[in-house]
Amino acid sequence: MDTATAITTRRSIKHFDPEHRMTRAEIEQLLTLTCHSPTSFNIQHWRFVVVDDVELRRQMRKVAWNQAQITDSSVLVVLCADVHAWDKQPERYWQHVAEPVRQFMVPAIGQHYRGQEQLQRDEAFRSCGIAAQTLMLAAKEMGYDTCPIAGFNVAAVADLIHLPNNHLVTLIIAVGKPLQPPWPAGSRLPLEQCVFYNRFPDSLP
Ligand SMILES: Cc1cc2nc3c(=O)[nH]c(=O)nc-3n(C[C@H](O)[C@H](O)[C@H](O)COP(=O)(O)O)c2cc1C
Repeated sequence: MDTATAITTRRSIKHFDPEHRMTRAEIEQLLTLTCHSPTSFNIQHWRFVVVDDVELRRQMRKVAWNQAQITDSSVLVVLCADVHAWDKQPERYWQHVAEPVRQFMVPAIGQHYRGQEQLQRDEAFRSCGIAAQTLMLAAKEMGYDTCPIAGFNVAAVADLIHLPNNHLVTLIIAVGKPLQPPWPAGSRLPLEQCVFYNRFPDSLP
């Protein structure tokens, strides 16, 4: 599938076939593609929790507005982030490059993030947002549909998946085979309302 087709045909699916399961190989293909997404300094602080335990999914649904996608999708991925990944053996993010590059990049990571708690958190959401879209487009190309889900109790989901300290839950993505077509598509804003050149205009549209 070409990229434009994947982008324009991706829709959020609310009803998945509960009988369908993805193979481990498909899940790994999907997440391998997802991990090609960019991260600042290549710190790859995303952590993906694949929830395939039926009882755990049932418990998650209870804290996620009873949304059927939580239990009925083929695969449920909780996109998390380690906000301290920048400080955990950062040389592993640059181990296959020439020594001068490594000597420049690795110390720069610490200089950029140390003491910058808000930045560490913002970056986690940026990276997981980009990874989420990569995952959804990769799934489309693999013949699957998706639903991004933020309608859940973050603390309760964190508890259920045993989220470690200094990690965040950013988003859940359900992946599967649709049973019903998506809801009617919402309208997209015309470009005049969301694209500006150089500066915002004095009076906003
Ligand atoms: C951050 C985020 C959170 C969302 N949370 C939910 C959700 O909890 N449940 C749901 O059914 N859809 C959810 N959606 C899907 C949106 O409703 C959907 O993307 C939007 O209406 C546009 O429709 P489309 O994705 O089919 O193009 C979410 C989307 C995003 C980006």
